[in-house]
Amino acid sequence: MTVRIDVVTIFPDYLAPLGISLIGKAQRDGRIELQVHDLREFTHDRHRTVDDTPYGGGAGMVMKPEPWGEALESIARQAVARGLPKTPAARRPTLIIPGPGGERFDQTIARDLAQRDHLVFACGRYEGIDERVYESAAADFDVRILSLGDYVLNGGEVATLAMTEAIARLIPGVIGNAQSLVEESHEDGLLEYPVYTKPEHWRGFSVPEVLLSGDHGRIAAWRHEQRLQRTAARRPDLLPPTAAAGAPDLDITV
Ligand code: ADE
Repeated sequence: MTVRIDVVTIFPDYLAPLGISLIGKAQRDGRIELQVHDLREFTHDRHRTVDDTPYGGGAGMVMKPEPWGEALESIARQAVARGLPKTPAARRPTLIIPGPGGERFDQTIARDLAQRDHLVFACGRYEGIDERVYESAAADFDVRILSLGDYVLNGGEVATLAMTEAIARLIPGVIGNAQSLVEESHEDGLLEYPVYTKPEHWRGFSVPEVLLSGDHGRIAAWRHEQRLQRTAARRPDLLPPTAAAGAPDLDITV
């Protein structure tokens, strides 16, 4: 199956990194079909205007609904023309609008989105997109407003790059070694264990002896303990309340 990804932006060049590395290869391998659209192509005035002043006053500019309406309708029409089913709901295209006011994007959401046939990212700029675009788009898309975290970026492009990468690597076949997906941070609620490679000694620091022992049971136990300690030290919010408070078997001295 090929996953279709459309991105709508006023800065198509911002999305150029999607052509390289993992997502570039996934496109060449036919696992992802990606198209970036310039929102200004859906304007009809000489200045290709995409923003205007906010009703009710206030700072900044708001993205006008008409270009967004046309761009999203065009993408939805193309999807139907390509034969992507509009129903059942799970198979409708998913419209992702990145924004600091959205639900927090995480690995669970990435995993869910990696199952979809068609993702559309709408990159807002300025103070945001006219609210009616969200309401109107719900006729053709499952609409999700997603935030990378509690900070403000200048627009949705960087968030789209981050989310696309997190999602694409979970699409079957995109990463060669599927085991590497299982063992990483956030897949099972704990952070990753520390990793080492050659040389054994470097600038006075040595690789932990257990990793040289060849004893797979001891190595697995050590790695698990490291994951617990790291998670407790760096991200106690990820642990169940008793463990985060410092359960007896947890030596929180990382
Ligand atoms: N656009 C602006 N800030 C953002 C954020 N924190 N997450 C996603 N998109 C954004």
